[in-house]
Amino acid sequence: MALLKSRLVVGVARWQPCLSVVQGRASSWWSHVEMGPPDPILGVTEAFKRDTNPKKMNLGVGAYRDDNGKPYVLSSVRKAEAQLASRNLDKEYLPIGGLAEFARSSAQLALGENCEALKSGRFITVQTISGTGSLRVGANFLQRFYKYSRDVYLPKPSWGNHTPIFRDAGLEVKGYRYYDPKTCGFDFAGALDDISKIPEQSIILFHACAHNPTGVDPKQEQWKELAALIKSRRLFPFFDMAYQGFASGDTDKDAWAVRHFIQEGVNVVLSQSYAKNMGLYGERVGAFTVVCSDTEEAKRVESQIKILIRPMYSNPPLNGARIAAAILTQPDLRKEWLQEVKGMANRIISMREQLVSNLKKEGSIHNWQHISDQIGMFCFTGLRPEQVERLIKEFSIYMTKDGRISVAGVTSANNGYLAHAIHQVSK
Ligand SMILES: Cc1ncc(COP(=O)(O)O)c(C=O)c1O
Repeated sequence: MALLKSRLVVGVARWQPCLSVVQGRASSWWSHVEMGPPDPILGVTEAFKRDTNPKKMNLGVGAYRDDNGKPYVLSSVRKAEAQLASRNLDKEYLPIGGLAEFARSSAQLALGENCEALKSGRFITVQTISGTGSLRVGANFLQRFYKYSRDVYLPKPSWGNHTPIFRDAGLEVKGYRYYDPKTCGFDFAGALDDISKIPEQSIILFHACAHNPTGVDPKQEQWKELAALIKSRRLFPFFDMAYQGFASGDTDKDAWAVRHFIQEGVNVVLSQSYAKNMGLYGERVGAFTVVCSDTEEAKRVESQIKILIRPMYSNPPLNGARIAAAILTQPDLRKEWLQEVKGMANRIISMREQLVSNLKKEGSIHNWQHISDQIGMFCFTGLRPEQVERLIKEFSIYMTKDGRISVAGVTSANNGYLAHAIHQVSK
């Protein structure tokens, strides 16, 4: 009877919001929900849109722009789309793990044709919802099956979404030294020192290339030392490769670190995104790979990843994967794509060089060499928050407060204006 009573009480309490509807007030199931902070990058874009200055620049967004500042759809992508349209394909569901042809060629692109793990089949790759979805599938997989640690160590700083992705998957996020503000370069000694103290078997995340937000990548010799340390400390590496080809213009060179770790016998996990290197941002094309000890282990892992994905989003989207697969598997399209990736990377590299030279022309006495030493879409300028504030207020040049600029937003036409403005706030 007592139990029945308490149930009844709960029942009445639950119905109260509905009573308020009857009384003419809107129900308030969510009155306790506080306003969340705006996304820092989207906030930059909003402010940019409101600005009426014709010289305004948006250096906040991480999307490639051509030399006219316009969004760029690759010609290889347009051709793949035309091919697909002419085939009148159906729109049936993909399997849980996605388009098999895409997954296979994505693994090949990342690991390289000669990779032993690839040839022997001791890996599993599933198609995911771009890089973010891949990281989340990976994080959830580790949360469920990596029984050795709950801790994921991220470089300091790292892409802003890494922390919530791993934290929301139930892992504990920690960090290791990475960026040195004094040199605007890689803090190699600091990274080695911190990593050597990370408890054995912890998870450690690396950006495979074109580190976001700093643009600072380890050199090959440094990667070798990092791989040796990871092996000796028995740490578990998670590679995030969101910019393959976008850093150097060469997809093999940009995958060097991942391939080196695997060659050294380290069984990594890997996230890939085709947002930047194929310009397929909104198509959401990505992949998640687990390198396993043998094919039998790979089969078991695959079965569990499918079980994980099924209640998350059931199966991934079809269109972008078809486009990417067409490009990766047809030699003529692939060749054209590789040239286009190189073209995008080269334009960014040349904007960096022009910016350094324009700063010199402006008369800046600071050493800006880090701008051209850094690589990929982003540049950590080293500008302080108050200098960024002035760039926004006085010059309508928008960027995140940490002084990160998306070099993809710089063009031949506005490079000089940017250099002038940076010089004005930093002299
Ligand atoms: C380091 C890093 N990882 C992953 C991603 C994932 O992007 P997407 O989900 O658009 O593929 C990004 C995008 O900015 C990134 O910079």
